Amino acid sequence: MTKSLLVTGGFGVLGRAVSAAAVARGWRTALVDFSPEPPAGLAASLGDGAYLKGGVDLADPAAARTVVEDVAQRQGGLDVLVNVAGGFTWTTLADGGVEPWGDLHRLNLTTAVNTSAAAIPLLTQSTAGRIVNVGANAAVKAAAGMGPYAASKAAIHRLTESLSEELKDQGVTVNAVLPSILDTPTNRADMPDADFTRWVTPDALAQVILFLASDEAGAVTGALLPVTGRV
Ligand SMILES: NC(=O)c1ccc[n+]([C@@H]2O[C@H](COP(=O)([O-])OP(=O)(O)OC[C@H]3O[C@@H](n4cnc5c(N)ncnc54)[C@H](OP(=O)(O)O)[C@@H]3O)[C@@H](O)[C@H]2O)c1
Repeated sequence: MTKSLLVTGGFGVLGRAVSAAAVARGWRTALVDFSPEPPAGLAASLGDGAYLKGGVDLADPAAARTVVEDVAQRQGGLDVLVNVAGGFTWTTLADGGVEPWGDLHRLNLTTAVNTSAAAIPLLTQSTAGRIVNVGANAAVKAAAGMGPYAASKAAIHRLTESLSEELKDQGVTVNAVLPSILDTPTNRADMPDADFTRWVTPDALAQVILFLASDEAGAVTGALLPVTGRV
């Protein structure tokens, strides 16, 4: 069955992989991102099955509402929301001060809360509503310098649990994947001596995300699923 899906952070590395996998399944797919323009060639590679919308700050609740409604109108409703938008900063409290704690909270949690709030009234109208969030395995126990990031991703884990309970009787499942290190150009540049084969490829993680988004995963909700490769 074709589905209507919205991917936040759709122009980023993981968002692109999720979008490509969804389009390959014939799902109507919207990519929403803060970056004003998609990377060169992305629209052409996805073809007619995709709608690309840049320049949207999902940390702004009104902007999130507007784009979710726009997508639902274009795609005839909404079945799946994948909250990928987010980012990472390593900083100690001594060096970075308090600001990163608020910044990462906004980047990783507020974006997902706003988009979920806007999407829920549409997802409850679907016969198989799904929210898939992206948490982090590194948020299960934080190392030095990981505080702001881990706190914001732990908040994603708690959002996943609480929303899954809230929506249990409304036909919407809410789950999260907890990646370790993705094989991205940024991570390769930051950790040049690492064994990249131990990392999770964005395509492999996208397949797990689409499983949680599928009809087959209807009995799974509130799961925090580690996707850690060999790390
Ligand atoms: N990479 C890893 O190893 C790893 C590990 C564990 C978890 N994760 C999580 O996986 C997700 C994707 O990671 P990635 O490596 O694909 O990151 P990425 O390439 O940086 O993609 C993230 C995208 O989200 C967008 N975004 C940021 N703030 C936004 C906002 N306020 N509104 C709308 N869009 C916004 C970014 O746009 P701009 O670039 O314009 O800001 C970017 O295009 C993130 O949540 C990350 O924390 C990644």
